[in-house]
Amino acid sequence: MNHSIARFFLHFHPKKVRVEAIRFDRTFGLGGIAALLFVILFITGMLLRFAYIPSAAEAYDSIVHLQEEVLFGSLLRNLHYWSAMLLVVVAFLHLVRVFYSQSIFEKRRKNWIYGLVLLFLVLSANFTGYLLPWDQLSFWAVTIMTNMLTYIPLVGNGLADIVRGGEVVNENTLLRFYHFHTGLMPFLMIFFMSVHFWLVRKSGGVALPAGTDKKMTDVNPHLVYKEIVVALILLLVIFLFSVFVDAPLLEKAKPLVSPNPSRAPWYFMGFQELLMHVHPTFGSFIIPLLVLVFFISIPFINYSEIKKGEWFYSSTGKQMTIFSALFAVLYTFVFVVFSDTVLDLSNRLSEWPSVLSTGLLASLIYVIPAALFIVYLKRKKQACRMEIIIAIVTFILAAYITMMLTGSFLRGEGMQLIFLI
Ligand code: HEM
Repeated sequence: MNHSIARFFLHFHPKKVRVEAIRFDRTFGLGGIAALLFVILFITGMLLRFAYIPSAAEAYDSIVHLQEEVLFGSLLRNLHYWSAMLLVVVAFLHLVRVFYSQSIFEKRRKNWIYGLVLLFLVLSANFTGYLLPWDQLSFWAVTIMTNMLTYIPLVGNGLADIVRGGEVVNENTLLRFYHFHTGLMPFLMIFFMSVHFWLVRKSGGVALPAGTDKKMTDVNPHLVYKEIVVALILLLVIFLFSVFVDAPLLEKAKPLVSPNPSRAPWYFMGFQELLMHVHPTFGSFIIPLLVLVFFISIPFINYSEIKKGEWFYSSTGKQMTIFSALFAVLYTFVFVVFSDTVLDLSNRLSEWPSVLSTGLLASLIYVIPAALFIVYLKRKKQACRMEIIIAIVTFILAAYITMMLTGSFLRGEGMQLIFLI
């Protein structure tokens, strides 16, 4: 029996791999860690279903009951919660790894797209699960996020109504989210993960730079042992963390009393912060759409040379990454403070339609200096197209993280910046 289980797992790998491909710094094990987190989530999620009642009247009490009355109930909930949060971080870091290690071109570009779909699914699964405890935190986070959908031109209201099952977050929303979270999402994730793994095999495994030593080694035991060590460390860390740190649970949801401030889930805080500075049509639709189209198109752009598996492409690429990240963090922070204190476009240009003043103009005020900086970097470093793309991606990622951290930690009551109150 054990032998056949082992054989089943070995099917995920070829019999032999190149020695260089299993060096830890090729992948940091991030794809495998994401897969293991999914397995933990699946098992703990199935067990949670025995205790959870998906109704607005009973959901919260069922969670309290699980935590207080059921043996290891708290541990079970914590394991599920912290694994879910970690999966968001790990999937993001895995995206960062495949991008900067130039592993998304030619045969691998399909997997970049499947990866983006997986990231969307990870976030959707996380978000639909967020509502289920039906406490003040989850209720208002979902209210904020579903309201953002309404700003999508033409279809926004209809879409938000479909997601919520009505005009506000209510019993229907809870039931919908429950079925998405425990049915559709896991199913789609298993499907897309299977295709993702199959494409990794089909494209010849992990991307390695041209000229890398071609020496081969047996997957079993050389790669399998490494995977077991990483898996055991991960399990130990998650287990210990879940023993000592409880998943948050505030008081039961009060649909008429919003907490101050009401925040989106942490991974969407960047969008909530962005909405404080630009018109919602831009913040929740046009800008995210442009970024998405750009990310999808990266492997399909024409480059003079592709350096598969080469971290940061070149030493210029590495320098562009560092400068762009530093600039994005500083500049975004300065923009946030400037926009909160001085800009005030809605009053200054009150006769303009707001979609032009706080929408187009505010976006341009942010984007133009950033674009000029990238042009300056390009000239100074005589960068090629790939190095410029690296600088732009770095800028976007660093800017989003800065907005996310600002929204999460530097805003207090009334979403005011705490150091300006
Ligand atoms: C649930 C989420 C995900 C899981 C379980 C997963 C799993 C994996 C695994 C096991 C690998 C083999 C190499 C490694 O471990 O790094 C891999 C490779 C890859 N993944 Fe993912 N992945 C996920 C999400 C993503 C995301 C968000 C992206 C990017 C948008 C992505 C893009 C890729 C690409 C391009 C490769 C090929 C890399 C290479 O050949 O070196 N994946 N993934």
